[in-house]
Amino acid sequence: MSHAIHSQYDSILILDFGSQYSHLITRRFRELNVYCEMLPCTQQIKDLTWHPKGVILSGSPYSVYDEVAPRVDPAVFSMGVPVLGICYGLQEIAWNHGGRVDPHHTREYGHATLDLVQTGNRVCDALFAGLGEDLTVWMSHGDQLSKMPDNFDVIARTKTAPYAAIAHKEHPFYGIQFHAEVTHTAQGTKLFENFVTVCGCRRNWTMETFIDKEIARIREMVGPHGRVLGAISGGVDSSVAAKIMHEAIGDRFHAVMVDNGVLRMDEAKQVDEKLSKDLGVNLTVVDASDLFLERLVDVEDPERKRKIIGNTFIEVFEKEAERMEKEMGKYEYLLQGTLYPDVIESISFKGPSATIKTHHNVGGLLEDMKLKLIEPLRELFKDEVRALGRLMGIPEHLVGRHPFPGPGLAIRILGPVTRDQVKLLQHADKIYIEEIFKANVYNDISQAFAVLLPVRAVGVQGDKRTYDQVIALRAAQTTDFMTATWYHFDPNLLSRISNRITNEVQGVNRVVLDVSSKPPATIEWL
Ligand code: XMP
Repeated sequence: MSHAIHSQYDSILILDFGSQYSHLITRRFRELNVYCEMLPCTQQIKDLTWHPKGVILSGSPYSVYDEVAPRVDPAVFSMGVPVLGICYGLQEIAWNHGGRVDPHHTREYGHATLDLVQTGNRVCDALFAGLGEDLTVWMSHGDQLSKMPDNFDVIARTKTAPYAAIAHKEHPFYGIQFHAEVTHTAQGTKLFENFVTVCGCRRNWTMETFIDKEIARIREMVGPHGRVLGAISGGVDSSVAAKIMHEAIGDRFHAVMVDNGVLRMDEAKQVDEKLSKDLGVNLTVVDASDLFLERLVDVEDPERKRKIIGNTFIEVFEKEAERMEKEMGKYEYLLQGTLYPDVIESISFKGPSATIKTHHNVGGLLEDMKLKLIEPLRELFKDEVRALGRLMGIPEHLVGRHPFPGPGLAIRILGPVTRDQVKLLQHADKIYIEEIFKANVYNDISQAFAVLLPVRAVGVQGDKRTYDQVIALRAAQTTDFMTATWYHFDPNLLSRISNRITNEVQGVNRVVLDVSSKPPATIEWL
């Protein structure tokens, strides 16, 4: 992938041995404006299509002595570039250079303080040069080095790890037992910055340069007459991807938004206004809400809801594409808003994680339509996409928006999905989000939404007894959406939300708060 990227930016290669922290290494280097890419640790160096300026070996859940322990291609040490091994990566370097690793009597997990050792050797000392006062580091390992590899020096110790960091006496090969990529390691960023300097890597990865280069790349790929079709959901990824396509090829890019009847209140209208009127993107909104809602009648099983919505989406989109082709001529490409975490997930050493829910995606479109994929955000993390969106003039409320699932409100209405139930939930959700905005806490929450429960509860309004529905409020805080905690609201804000929902939404007399973490709960209720 991405030959163009590698010819434009100096890059660092991260070889992933399966640590839960591997993707954080990528994040930290990107934050230093250094482009980096992660590949599985089984990558053969001779098969690399680009030349990295440095290589990182990540941590791993394995021990180097496990029979099935993943092994780095030893050719990595003759590439003539610096290598930094983190935790298991250190042990892998040691193992390759005649060192010994033994199981530690207990697993070391938590904070430790580094004691730096000045060797007087310029190469060795470069990794810790100019580190600040706080030398707290984060340890998480079972094995540790018991015999130094040949020709290496110790460059740091801790109370329990006599070889907490090591460096080769001649080559820029370093190993650290601690995890510099997690924020608990106070000087982690400075350490990575030092490694970047040792690699002689230019720090030119910014969203400003990315826009120009990506636009040039798209123009070259699509050619002067090629045409691109894209599906827009209204979320940040597809909006940014659409804007970049529009900048690159103007009206030869055509976006389609399918209103599936289970969007947030007025969403189709708002996206139409923003993308098409304000940002000039060529956009068609197809109202297929009747068809979707018809097919959802009496369906309660969440996976069936997802399948129906996914399949109906493809059907509607394809029909629209056919109509457009008849009218305007052939499309060669399909735009997808794939992000780097999806790419990492699919190339990860551990392989794609088990599917807990079938996530809706438009990949199925390709088979019949014979469209080639175009993925302008494939190298980016979510916060980079947001920065890109801001630079391209996409309004803040679109750029900073919480994610919204493809199957929409259908997986937030726990009972049968009807137009009335959708309206009721849209209304409650709108109030909830409005109050969160007013209280200025929207950006502290990763994802907030209302859920409509399929139960009735007794209430009293005026002198009348009511028997109405219940709304649950969900607000999750997370960085990767794999694990999450519930957001601790100010009780006064909760009162305002609850009062407004029960007063303004006909058919609701009770509001409850979801206080479950993920795991064991998931973020969505279905
Ligand atoms: P869960 O509920 O699995 O959600 O903890 C994690 C993230 O994924 C989103 N999600 C979906 N997104 N199609 C989507 O496009 C789906 O079927 C789907 N299910 C969950 C969820 O909103 C959260 O951001």
